[in-house]
Amino acid sequence: DSPVAVLCSGGDAPGMNAFLRAIVRLGLNRHHVPVLGIRDGYRGLVRAAKLVNGESGELVRLKQEITAHAGNRGLIDAQQCIIQMDHASVSGIMGKGGTILGSARCMDFHKPEVRRGAIDLLEKLGVKALVVVGGDGSLTGARLLAEESSLRVIGVPATIDNDLQFTEMALGVDTAVHTLVWAVDHFIDTARSHRRVMVLETMGRESGDLARMAALASGAEMVITPESGPLTEQAMMSYAEEIEGAMTRGRGHAIVLIAEGVQFDPPQTRNGAYVLRDAFQKYFQREGAPFQDLEVRPSVLGHLQRGGHSTPGDCILAARFAEEAWKAILDPAGANGITALQHNKVQIVPFGCEDLPERALHSQAMDRLHDDLSSW
Ligand code: F6P
Repeated sequence: DSPVAVLCSGGDAPGMNAFLRAIVRLGLNRHHVPVLGIRDGYRGLVRAAKLVNGESGELVRLKQEITAHAGNRGLIDAQQCIIQMDHASVSGIMGKGGTILGSARCMDFHKPEVRRGAIDLLEKLGVKALVVVGGDGSLTGARLLAEESSLRVIGVPATIDNDLQFTEMALGVDTAVHTLVWAVDHFIDTARSHRRVMVLETMGRESGDLARMAALASGAEMVITPESGPLTEQAMMSYAEEIEGAMTRGRGHAIVLIAEGVQFDPPQTRNGAYVLRDAFQKYFQREGAPFQDLEVRPSVLGHLQRGGHSTPGDCILAARFAEEAWKAILDPAGANGITALQHNKVQIVPFGCEDLPERALHSQAMDRLHDDLSSW
């Protein structure tokens, strides 16, 4: 039977491995369709396409390599661009962070001639469908492949940013929120001991969703997101004033989350956590201020948020996305599209579909809920 190929692209996200396990196991056990794994995202695909389009005989060699991998007891050779995924290759990977296939950002894939080469290769290998697991840019690549070929192309949202507005959740978000709650708990211990303000910068690209979900789940006192618009000096002063007010009422410490996408007015080149630290410190140390020795410590949490064991929530969502992806691949009347969680139901939505209007409302509701729940 013609194989289905799968790749992970862009920033890795927890849940990618659970998805690979599910797509391979459902392929082999339920649908009896072989699955090829493409290493290192579009970059691996492009590398393989260049090989094959170069010397003659490379296609035969690539096909031999792919077949030789079958039954290789889970050994993934770093030299291989494409591998046959068998039961063993996805054994024991369910909750593991990262992706066993590797992932990459591939600027070359913006070029139509490079995508053409990739499509030619997939066609030569007899691939009937391609599954692309990744975030915004990766799904744009998937949409272009769908438009430019006769392949069935299915996208699967995986990004800790939760910035894809057509799905309530992407793979990786639940785990990243879990990691942030863990991190906040650790920062609270030291903040409380030193009676300090901790400013923690979360990832999320242009979206504040990861930060606001983490604030709601951890009880962080404040959360600042890009959706509130650029942060002025005056706005920073009023946040500092709010903290000072809480200290006056006996509060000993504060945790402030700031999303990496927050912009400043005037614009700043440094990380938001440091800009905010300086503004807060300036305010607390003004002449006659009541808490002049109140210290502020910034931390940029960075890639810590991308790793770690996936939560059961992400593993379950991965299995549900994989099941829906197979339905779309095997349905003769099925269309290209992306697996999405809408109203708690997994379905396929077309590439370039409208945003879910509830998503923005949901974010606003979370902000309001957080405001009403944080006790000062
Ligand atoms: O999209 C996921 C993400 O982790 C963003 O939150 C962050 O802005 C970016 O990727 C970091 O990219 P990189 O891993 O390439 O440094």
